Amino acid sequence: PVISRLQYEAPAYAIDQVTLEFDLDPERTRVKSRMQVRRMPGAAPTAPLLLDGEDITLQSLLLDGKPYVYAQTDGGIRLDKLPETFALEIVTACSPRGNTRLSGLYMSGDAFFTQCEAEGFRRITYWPDRPDVMSRFTVVLRADKSIYPVLLSNGNLRSQRPLDDGRLEAVWEDPFPKPSYLFALVAARLVCREQRIRSRAGREHLLQVYVREGDLDKTDHAMQSLMASVAWDEQRFGLSLDLDRFMIVAVSDFNMGAMENKGLNIFNTKYVLANPATATDADYQHIESVVGHEYFHNWTGNRITCRDWFQLSLKEGLTVFRDQEFSQDLAAQSGGESARAVKRIEDVRTLRAVQFPEDAGPMAHPVRPDSYVAIDNFYTPTVYEKGAEVVRMMQTLVGRAGFAKGMQLYFSRHDGQAVTCDDFLAAMADANPGSALDTHRQQFGLWYAQAGTPRLRAQGRFDAASRTYTLTLTQACQPTPGQGEKQAQVVPVRMGLVGRDGAALAFRAGDRTGRGPEALLVLTQPEQSFVLHEVDADPIPSLLRGFSAPVILDDGLGDADRLILLAHDTDPFNRWEAAQRLALSRLLPAVCEGDLKVDAAYLDALRAVLRDPALDPAFKELVLTLPSEGYIAEQLGEIDPPRIHQTHQAMRLALAQQLQADWEQLWHTLAPNRGYSPDFADAGRRGLRNLALTHLCLLGDAQWQGRAYQRVKDADNMTDRFDALAALVGSRAQLAEAALQRFAAQFAHEPLVMDKWFALQAGAPGAEIEAIRALMRHADFSLRNPNRARSVISTFCQGNPGAFHRADGAGYAFWAEQVRALDAINPQVAARLARAMDRWRKLAPPYAQSAEPVMRELAAHPGLSADTREILGKALA
Ligand code: ARG
Ligand code: ZN
Repeated sequence: PVISRLQYEAPAYAIDQVTLEFDLDPERTRVKSRMQVRRMPGAAPTAPLLLDGEDITLQSLLLDGKPYVYAQTDGGIRLDKLPETFALEIVTACSPRGNTRLSGLYMSGDAFFTQCEAEGFRRITYWPDRPDVMSRFTVVLRADKSIYPVLLSNGNLRSQRPLDDGRLEAVWEDPFPKPSYLFALVAARLVCREQRIRSRAGREHLLQVYVREGDLDKTDHAMQSLMASVAWDEQRFGLSLDLDRFMIVAVSDFNMGAMENKGLNIFNTKYVLANPATATDADYQHIESVVGHEYFHNWTGNRITCRDWFQLSLKEGLTVFRDQEFSQDLAAQSGGESARAVKRIEDVRTLRAVQFPEDAGPMAHPVRPDSYVAIDNFYTPTVYEKGAEVVRMMQTLVGRAGFAKGMQLYFSRHDGQAVTCDDFLAAMADANPGSALDTHRQQFGLWYAQAGTPRLRAQGRFDAASRTYTLTLTQACQPTPGQGEKQAQVVPVRMGLVGRDGAALAFRAGDRTGRGPEALLVLTQPEQSFVLHEVDADPIPSLLRGFSAPVILDDGLGDADRLILLAHDTDPFNRWEAAQRLALSRLLPAVCEGDLKVDAAYLDALRAVLRDPALDPAFKELVLTLPSEGYIAEQLGEIDPPRIHQTHQAMRLALAQQLQADWEQLWHTLAPNRGYSPDFADAGRRGLRNLALTHLCLLGDAQWQGRAYQRVKDADNMTDRFDALAALVGSRAQLAEAALQRFAAQFAHEPLVMDKWFALQAGAPGAEIEAIRALMRHADFSLRNPNRARSVISTFCQGNPGAFHRADGAGYAFWAEQVRALDAINPQVAARLARAMDRWRKLAPPYAQSAEPVMRELAAHPGLSADTREILGKALA
């Protein structure tokens, strides 16, 4: 059934308090729930109480101590003719061992874990499983002490004692009312790293990171990140930790990245475990941002939660924005202001790589969706990353201080409540009366309501006589499924002017009194002209600085203008953007017409960047990294993935050849002078140096490939070791096979490292399906472990377009087979993989033609989950 946003009805009953007792057993766990229920003021006395339940067995139900008749519903039970307040006791049983969906209570190895967001709690007990029902939870856990010596749940440990039968009993109490999706428990053999901290407010807290024995030496970075998160939220937003104890637990079988359960965050091991020998710089970065993200949810998500799942971006968009700001601030501590820009560029690259295609395809949906079949399908780049851009635009419109005021008002109005995206926007606007956000608040709300990426077109005219520059901006947005007509949105355009000599040109914008180097234009009409005054020379406009809005910009500039911006713009984002556009304007004609021209002007510009001592290595690396194949595909009317891949490779080879002397120079000058640190500066040097090695290997030069092999053997950190291995595999070096074998032998017992090893091969240029099948026959491959399944199958189907799309359609047949196999085990993971074919209609012949029958046959398979069915249905509609 399709759930619609406008169908929302407030719950008729509140459950003020609940005590859950778990007798944990892998085959059959018994759950006794005792609830204090109260009819909501205003609800009809006849209103039924609806309880969700899925894959659980009801054993008894008592109302005020007596058996009570209930009715079965689709997906739960219903109680009628209820008193105004009552005690409800329900006993159920479930099978954690049989729970391969990893939603609800499940086993990972020999241990119990839970994942309740969005609708996993109903797989544990009968409950009104919706985020606007908030309760105080007391949790009693009982389990065999010899196998599960650690028993954890949300909040504070009230007591723990051994029972006569060899079991351990722990009682946990969470002082804060919370929705069921934030419930969690863990029963396992674990060890933990502990840290006591004192908050700015003077309160003491215990921080813990729990992992399996043997992984303790990989917890330092997660703990450092957690401490930094606590300090940052206090400093930037005045938000302190509200619990005595805050726990992170790592689990190796997990559908997503991590989960913000109150006081007991549960993480995919991938986002906790790191030491220099096993984790790359990118892993360190991800851990920092995910630890921050989940911690920041404690206020934006847990203290104030979502009224219903359509409001998911209320917590996710805001929390992604917060984790992005956190990472920027931390990067700036070690790398200065340019580190901020590097982080911003990386975030925009992700947005364009994953969200823009989504917004242009069959799954396009507003940041606040209007309907869904399976809510798990809507944990998307649109809700997360575009949602974060919407929050960022608010900050741009009201300023940093205004944004902080808005946050304060949001908390003073809504702490402890389940609210909507509109409530957040209202708090921001109300806290900043007279701001552009306040003035245009209604129209700004379209960012939540309209799907699709708006396209901006800019045209400028300089008038020397009046010293004015008139910038005309137009906006339009293509129709998306269910939304034929689009209205103009509020688009903040940060901009400056650059002279032909590269110098910044000052100007006076509209009503502003002073002359300055930059302005914020707020576009609200389909077409609007802005007159800039006191402009001394014909300028090149530098528009959308810092990517001030998630739009596609047609700036109408030519190569010459872009070369100037690349060399001189004071805005680092737009310098990088100029390089991307210069690359695109060479790549796109080559994809269409076949002849790639890499001209001297472009090469000289890149060389100048590489040689500029004032530029950050991390920034140089970004400038020298071509737009991804996926992003190139989005620029084209018809997609021929192998052709895009060949062109992309040809361009990389050209850069390798033409800049060879510079790559060699970089390799030598960037040699490290001390041991490994994952900080911004060191990681940036490593990244650029390894990019140099990658290019040098591409040349096929035996000497450089030999050097790479040497590094696979004796690098002192995983970044250098893995980048060298990737350089060998990516250049199809003869030594690649031997290097892969060496690497596998060395890291056979490190699952996260082996995930990289699997992924590297599944993503290798020219990977054949038989090679993918061979990886799946590896003794360490398992379809049941999401990380491992993704490392091979998703990497091939979603991360290797040049090899996956084949004229014979064999890639599609493989994809369909794996979606079916995964769907029977874990629909959430299968539905993600199903999205590999989102853009099939844009594929050039013969790809689209061979994809369609395969997709139709898969969609017709009767046993398919609602999750996967929803994705395929939209793709084929
Ligand atoms: N709230 C989690 C996070 O963003 C993600 C949970 C996703 N769960 C799901 N079933 N899709 O940090
Ligand atoms: Zn989140």
